[in-house]
Amino acid sequence: AIYPVILCGGSGTRLWPASRADQPKQFLKLIGATSSFQDTVLRVKDLPGRAEIVIVTGEAMVGFVLAQCDEIDVAVTVLVEPEARDSAPAVAAAAAYVQSRDPDGVALMLAADHHIAEPEIFGQAALTAARAAAEGWIVTFGVRPTGPATGFGYIRPGEPLAGGAVNRVAAFVEKPDRATAETYVAQGYLWNSGNFAFKAEVLMGELDAFEPSVSAAARACVAALDVKDGLGRLDKAAFGQAARISLDYAVMERTQKAAVVPAAFSWSDLGAWDAIWEACPKTEDDNAVSGDVTLIDCERVLARSTGPFIGVIGLSDIIVVAEPDAVLVCHRDASQVVKTLVDGLKRDG
Ligand code: GDD
Ligand code: MG
Repeated sequence: AIYPVILCGGSGTRLWPASRADQPKQFLKLIGATSSFQDTVLRVKDLPGRAEIVIVTGEAMVGFVLAQCDEIDVAVTVLVEPEARDSAPAVAAAAAYVQSRDPDGVALMLAADHHIAEPEIFGQAALTAARAAAEGWIVTFGVRPTGPATGFGYIRPGEPLAGGAVNRVAAFVEKPDRATAETYVAQGYLWNSGNFAFKAEVLMGELDAFEPSVSAAARACVAALDVKDGLGRLDKAAFGQAARISLDYAVMERTQKAAVVPAAFSWSDLGAWDAIWEACPKTEDDNAVSGDVTLIDCERVLARSTGPFIGVIGLSDIIVVAEPDAVLVCHRDASQVVKTLVDGLKRDG
């Protein structure tokens, strides 16, 4: 059976002022009526062979997780981390939990903050990945790069495995520098989409080999775990023994068992406002609006408000985001600089 495991950790600084420490981006309704967290749950809800959905998140986000699952009427099991220690300890806890429920269980690990435009294509790719995972591969979903971005993992596809829809991973490099990323794009590397499929047992075995503190902590947490009404808290002392490291560095750069499903779905990690504009449904002038907004003679504008009325006249390629207590106005090409703005606010406040 396939156990979807959804990691819900980050905050999303570059989506200020909508995204805040107490209002992380994966719970915001940025594209349509549902959040990217809800979209992630809905993408796997009807997957053939799907078993229990496991969410790993921090105490501060449990309220959002439960309320948003309730809204879409999907039952989940929530494992609560006592602290954030990056993705490897979180996914290891889920893998140990899945293994305790089903020794042959396959985990489909998904990030909660991605936008995938074609859920059917994703579903097909997920089933292909799950089949390879059941045979012992740790499967990534590779997407075609649109440029030499440095915030992603890069995958060099190797020889095809049986059936042809899956390749071995010849090399996996997490977050290369700009110059290296440029050569990778030219050489046909794929971006790691940050979603994975693996047998729980296989991932735990690789962690035993590469980062034993992580798998040991996960097993200790699950041995002490008491899940009531779909909620279980991971033991603080045991979890704190795990190294702070992401799955990409802990396993993907080192394992010989990595495979890749080249994925045809359009994918975005919704990193900044320009990516939200790309993913949103648009008017014939390519504007994307939500809330109380009027645009006149505007093109390629993203304008959204949860508070005051926004009026924009005669501008193009602009982002306007209004919250009750803050307004952002920036050029679409400057979306990444929002991080600098927010870092400055933190310093001054
Ligand atoms: N529960 C929990 N706890 N989740 C976490 C934690 C944690 O401590 N740290 C990270 N996560 C979750 C995030 O919420 C996200 O869903 C996922 O794990 C990936 O973490 P990011 O911090 O967003 O990683 P990244 O974007 O730098 O890199 C990863 O994703 C890229 C694609 O978006 C890597 O897998 C890259 O290789 C990949 O290209
Ligand atoms: Mg990310």
